[in-house]
Amino acid sequence: MNQAIQTLMEEHRVIEEVLGSLETFVDRMDAGEEVARDSIRDYADFFRNFADRCHHGKEEDRLFALMGENGFPSEYGPIAVMLAEHTEGRAHVKALFEAGEAPGLLAADDKLQVSRHARAYISLLRSHIVKEDNILYPMALQAIRNEEMEALGEAFELFEREVMGEGTHAKYHALVRALVAAYPPDPAKMAAGAACAGCPGHV
Ligand SMILES: [Fe+2]
Repeated sequence: MNQAIQTLMEEHRVIEEVLGSLETFVDRMDAGEEVARDSIRDYADFFRNFADRCHHGKEEDRLFALMGENGFPSEYGPIAVMLAEHTEGRAHVKALFEAGEAPGLLAADDKLQVSRHARAYISLLRSHIVKEDNILYPMALQAIRNEEMEALGEAFELFEREVMGEGTHAKYHALVRALVAAYPPDPAKMAAGAACAGCPGHV
């Protein structure tokens, strides 16, 4: 397996773990359990910085750009769909961040908004990851020369150091461990989510 694609797929596994944890969090909140705003901010922090800035950043700035040079336009087709889904996801994460940062206790309406955005985001990202793992990445491996894909692995390492900064990954892995320990993902729901995520009409 190419190093760059392997890195992206390993990051998908981490993101799926946190999506599963967020699902447990909103399930418990919706069932009436008291939850802290801080946890919502922590999830939003992870999705904004690890999933979006770090992971989607590598995809958009490096992989999709390389695919663009190899005949995949960004205006239509699979890259356009992936970009649109990244944008859609950002809106949900922004809403979670705002709910997590607001002062005071969570009101009933805050909880409704958090649940709505979190569930939409979980569904969106699960299906997005299935498409990338099974369709987009194999297409990239087929269309792009080996040497260019090797260079992409090095570009990712540079991206980690220059854009994200030393220690950022370690910080987010520690946050993942804390969130998953507090709200463990339900393996059955994760498997069901991944299995039907690519179905037409899945919401
Ligand atoms: Fe991805």
